[in-house]
Amino acid sequence: MSDHAISAHGLVKRFGEKTALGGIDLTVPTGTVTSVLGPNGAGKTTAVRILTTLSTPDEGTATVAGFDVATHPTEVRRRIGLTAQDTTVDGLLTGRQNLVMIGELHHLGRAFAQQRADELLEEFSLSDAAERVVSGYSGGMRRRLDIAATLVADPEVLFLDEPTTGLDPRARNELWDVLDTLVDRGTTILLTTQYLEEADRLADDIVVVDHGRIIAQGDARALKRQVGGDQIQVVASRADRLDQVTAILARASATTPTVDTASRSVTAPTSDGVAALATVAGALHAEGIEVDDLGLRQPTLDEVFLTLTGNPATDDETQEGAR
Ligand SMILES: Nc1ncnc2c1ncn2[C@@H]1O[C@H](COP(=O)(O)OP(=O)(O)O)[C@@H](O)[C@H]1O
Ligand SMILES: [Mg+2]
Repeated sequence: MSDHAISAHGLVKRFGEKTALGGIDLTVPTGTVTSVLGPNGAGKTTAVRILTTLSTPDEGTATVAGFDVATHPTEVRRRIGLTAQDTTVDGLLTGRQNLVMIGELHHLGRAFAQQRADELLEEFSLSDAAERVVSGYSGGMRRRLDIAATLVADPEVLFLDEPTTGLDPRARNELWDVLDTLVDRGTTILLTTQYLEEADRLADDIVVVDHGRIIAQGDARALKRQVGGDQIQVVASRADRLDQVTAILARASATTPTVDTASRSVTAPTSDGVAALATVAGALHAEGIEVDDLGLRQPTLDEVFLTLTGNPATDDETQEGAR
């Protein structure tokens, strides 16, 4: 297998008038995690479907696990796993039965399929639920089983299409924990998401996609720097202390802070995170300034999109056509 588990050039996909992908280049080095980050309708699933041979591009080429998706789809399929947005496991079977069945479909042999099922149930914190039918699982458990099912055949490259969309924060955190193990083990993963936090937590590289085009890319740190990075925000209890607060933030950040008089809020970018926050807290205390709120903020996906595109992140329904 080459250094690049995934390598795509100039992928274009049209649906009638709609250009779902307007020319995407993507490389994922073996053993790394790349996240494709973008709002609804950005083209994430379209790209995943092409890379997993479920759809063919109108233009462009791609190799996955060393094989061309157009000319050697069977070879590609043999080496990849895909956890799609829609669940794939059978609700009427137990968690364990599902995994054993998939192992047998992959010709693992019954004994080995059972062993693999038990390993995966353990790894995905599903051992206690192994003998229960899946229709009784929570959304988070079902999603973990989906991913476990994808791993039965030990794929070289794993595609996860929005693995945590629709999960509540607790289930999302549990899923991130199990994905951490995969990441640590060096599984090559292409993960799509709408959440910067998720991309940040799991991925080495982030590719930001909007309207079928890549609008930014880099590791989380670079991306956040590009959109302004962390901000210190102070909400003063009294409007007549705003000038003092502004002076403190100016000293701590060596920039000109942004003041919003109506909300008594002062913000300034920082690259020192907690250290700058401590400086500001100390100065506020020394000058006897009461605050309603004090903290470090990271850019939200909306702010990333606002900064990168000049438009708020919108979903497809509110946006006409492709650009
Ligand atoms: N089979 C299809 N037929 C027509 N339009 C499609 C089809 N699949 C996707 N699209 C359109 O292509 C764009 C990208 O969709 P998709 O790849 O599903 O985005 P994402 O997964 O990022 O939400 C959207 O505008 C979507 O409506
Ligand atoms: Mg999608």
